Amino acid sequence: MTSSNPYNSIQPVQWKNDNLFLLDQRLLPKIETYNEYSDLKSIANAITDMVVRGAPAIGVTAAYGIVIAARTRFTESAENWKSLIQQDLDFLANARPTAINLAWAIAKMRPLIDAQQGNPYDTLLNTAKTIHQNDIENNVKIGNYGASLLGHCSVLTHCNAGALATGGYGTALGVIRSGFAEGKIEHVYADETRPWFQGARLTAWELKKDNIPVTLITEGAAGWLMKQGKIEWVIVGSDRIVANGDVANKIGTYNAAVLAKHHGLKVMVAAPTSTIDMDTLSGNDIPIEERSKNEVFVVEGNQIATEGINAWNPVFDVTPASLVDAIVTEKGIVENPTLEKMQKLME
Ligand code: MRU
Repeated sequence: MTSSNPYNSIQPVQWKNDNLFLLDQRLLPKIETYNEYSDLKSIANAITDMVVRGAPAIGVTAAYGIVIAARTRFTESAENWKSLIQQDLDFLANARPTAINLAWAIAKMRPLIDAQQGNPYDTLLNTAKTIHQNDIENNVKIGNYGASLLGHCSVLTHCNAGALATGGYGTALGVIRSGFAEGKIEHVYADETRPWFQGARLTAWELKKDNIPVTLITEGAAGWLMKQGKIEWVIVGSDRIVANGDVANKIGTYNAAVLAKHHGLKVMVAAPTSTIDMDTLSGNDIPIEERSKNEVFVVEGNQIATEGINAWNPVFDVTPASLVDAIVTEKGIVENPTLEKMQKLME
């Protein structure tokens, strides 16, 4: 964590005593507890099961997971570890399909594995720590760039793109933290974000911890909030931004963007370049994760829907570039994104 970062109290991913510790986000805000991980399969399952979530946090976790996999495989066979670890990388890659930061982290670590002579532990661990540290530093840059676009305003955010969803500080919440510190943001509205309630459980928790004024709303209230003139910006994170500027993010982001357009409000997507996938040309080609129907039927162990009906649970959607006013990265801002502008950013 950088010493210049004033908001360093929330650390979802920690490396301690040669193992990985993940803050169990499924239990927040009621219980704040870390689980310890010392094998790759449990780490991949922790990603799938939402112990850790948010695209950049998933990427950082994957990098540490590969360190642990390499340690296990090298102990098993100093001769064959490079071939044995391939099944671990495949297993990890399938933990969640939409957040590109998972594939990005694997792509960063793989060449080091290929080139390694001898015990890979130190090299891979140093790289994982660098990925983690860079993510935090990039978020602070994103926060400052994003805040530079704001006038005096109130904002709506969706899901959780905060410290919990990243190495620390947050992307959308990084912009909100920087904007609030600069005296530009008056109030934050947080969508509760069904079915996992990341807004109610995580975003509201983070903002309260930092004394940033937050009001929780149901997603259905967003249009009426806008109609009442209560916000100027929608600020969200992303799981994958593709070459033409289309943005995958938590289901409901598209609704918020369409509503913002209707009400003449602005939409900002804050994300590190590790979330940008220039190999995918349009949002139509982004794999959208669908999760269990039970996540829709059941809230905190209570079945709320009638038995014997169907449910559909896509957990991300794609907001077309035409609805996005600005993509804010650590490398700079892309206003009204197009293929050409995204290519220039990623040159
Ligand atoms: O299902 P989740 O909680 O992993 O979804 C997270 C989001 O959609 C975030 O907005 C996105 O990953 C950006 S996090 C900085």
